[in-house]
Amino acid sequence: MHVRVVFNQKGGVGKSTIAVNLAAVAAKSGKRVLVLDLDPQGNASHYLLGEAARTASPNLADFFEQVLNFSLYAKPAREFIHPTPHEGLDVLPSSPLIAEQQTKLEARYKIYKLRETLGELAGEYDEVYIDTPPALNFFTLSALIAATGCLIPFDCDSFSRDALLGLMARVEEIRQDHNGKLEIEGIVVNQFQPRASLPLRLVTELEEQGLPVLQSRLSSSVKVRESHEAAAPLVALDARHKLAQEFAALYAELAAAAR
Ligand SMILES: Nc1ncnc2c1ncn2[C@@H]1O[C@H](COP(=O)(O)OP(=O)(O)O)[C@@H](O)[C@H]1O
Ligand SMILES: [Mg+2]
Repeated sequence: MHVRVVFNQKGGVGKSTIAVNLAAVAAKSGKRVLVLDLDPQGNASHYLLGEAARTASPNLADFFEQVLNFSLYAKPAREFIHPTPHEGLDVLPSSPLIAEQQTKLEARYKIYKLRETLGELAGEYDEVYIDTPPALNFFTLSALIAATGCLIPFDCDSFSRDALLGLMARVEEIRQDHNGKLEIEGIVVNQFQPRASLPLRLVTELEEQGLPVLQSRLSSSVKVRESHEAAAPLVALDARHKLAQEFAALYAELAAAAR
């Protein structure tokens, strides 16, 4: 089972969009896929379930509540997972309540709980996509400890370029201290505008610095907002759309590298 975390401390770079769309491409290609939404904002959950995400029960907050009220009769992780309207694609939905559980989980040293929980699901899924909040906190650390691969979205802005090196150093630190299986699969260039000079220059600079920039670029399209509003990933909404094909190409690039 490959566990892919989409991580960047900056908000609005495309983490939720990338996690959900890659997961949907994987499911469409026949894989058994789980999306785990670790962001209290729940954008990935909403993207997959629509308004039903708000009332999805039990959810991640219920799962963490069970972790905090340790019992020998705990429900298995499977029971917190919901099917989505897309075949082969399930979700463990988030809840705003997880924001308040964070300090308690941290104080009780539950940082390995997620890895252990995904271990229990190893026979049921081929791929797991973890969406993370825009922070380096208990949730993102738990995700990086549980993951086998890390994708870092880059939104072609000079501020985020400077933050990238620091971010990659943190991932490497977690690899050394907690998770030898964690690999940076690459930097995903999102909202790329091939005709503008700044994005091209920024991406070229990253490549020249030897950073692992993936070849597949994701362009900017209003279709993304439409897709979020329709609660349908691009492959489900319009598989022939340029951006849907770019997500498929990105997925193929990652699959080829993982082989
Ligand atoms: N390739 C893209 N083209 C157009 N809009 C995009 C693209 N990727 C993301 N967006 C938009 O940018 C915003 C932030 O994306 P999101 O995936 O929520 O980022 P994050 O999870 O990192 O905060 C959303 O409104 C989303 O619709
Ligand atoms: Mg998000």
